[in-house]
Amino acid sequence: MINGVSAKIADVQNLNFSYGEKQVLKSISMPVYEKKVTALIGPSGCGKTTLLRCFNRMHDLYKTTYYEGQILLYPKGLNILGRDLEPMEVRMRIGMVFQKPNPFPKSIAENVAYGLRIRGIKKNSFIKDKIEESLKQAGLWDEVKDRLGSSAQMLSGGQQQRLCIARALATEPEILLLDEPTSALDPISTAHIEELIVELKNRVTIMMVTHNLHQAARVSDYTGFMFMGDLVEFGPTNELFTNPLDQRTENYITGRFG
Ligand SMILES: Nc1ncnc2c1ncn2[C@@H]1O[C@H](COP(=O)(O)OP(=O)(O)OP(=O)(O)O)[C@@H](O)[C@H]1O
Ligand SMILES: [Mg+2]
Repeated sequence: MINGVSAKIADVQNLNFSYGEKQVLKSISMPVYEKKVTALIGPSGCGKTTLLRCFNRMHDLYKTTYYEGQILLYPKGLNILGRDLEPMEVRMRIGMVFQKPNPFPKSIAENVAYGLRIRGIKKNSFIKDKIEESLKQAGLWDEVKDRLGSSAQMLSGGQQQRLCIARALATEPEILLLDEPTSALDPISTAHIEELIVELKNRVTIMMVTHNLHQAARVSDYTGFMFMGDLVEFGPTNELFTNPLDQRTENYITGRFG
């Protein structure tokens, strides 16, 4: 925090992205503020997931995808999209949780340990402590501490999603990406995850995509409204929701088009 303004942890600069011939992100520029929650909203197909996936180089898993522009990660100003950067390393530093909980077919403990093992960490006491710490941070520890060796697939959907959050937290990412993290969950599990997001921002910067405008208003500090590949408007959530500057933003948040 400098003079009441949050520090930036990342900066998206003139980002263009295409799947083959099809350009899906058009010159996106936006800041990401440290230890804040940024929500991305907008109609289906506008490019929210695509933008989120640029942050951890998920698109590199497919050929025919093209990036232009940069995403700088501070304090060093490293370009996440730089060709010299190893995508696996980026994915440790920028964790992602998907819409549908996707625990690996392993035990609860091994799901959380996964990223640490990939990093080559062998010290069992360290891994054990990290499993406990991450499950506590994800608000799941008390429910699973007596069955860490059981299959993750035995957990409920909401528990599985919190396990995926614990798995992402274990490598101490700088940014946590959440793509519609509650859309497959019941209202109680949703409330649980929303509380968790608000708590987690004390330790990690969060970017989330949501179709639930009430959720964006409840948990985010900043909101970006996207429309057909453009970032139409970005600002503090309360301002964007109460006083949108662009007609398209206003139409969307008042439900005039979907
Ligand atoms: N693998 C892909 N290959 C080609 N086009 C794709 C691919 N994935 C997404 N697209 C297209 O890119 C555009 C943006 O998709 P994206 O998934 O980012 O939208 P979204 O805003 O997340 O939508 P939703 O709210 O429905 O999840 C869409 O037109 C989509 O059809
Ligand atoms: Mg999406």
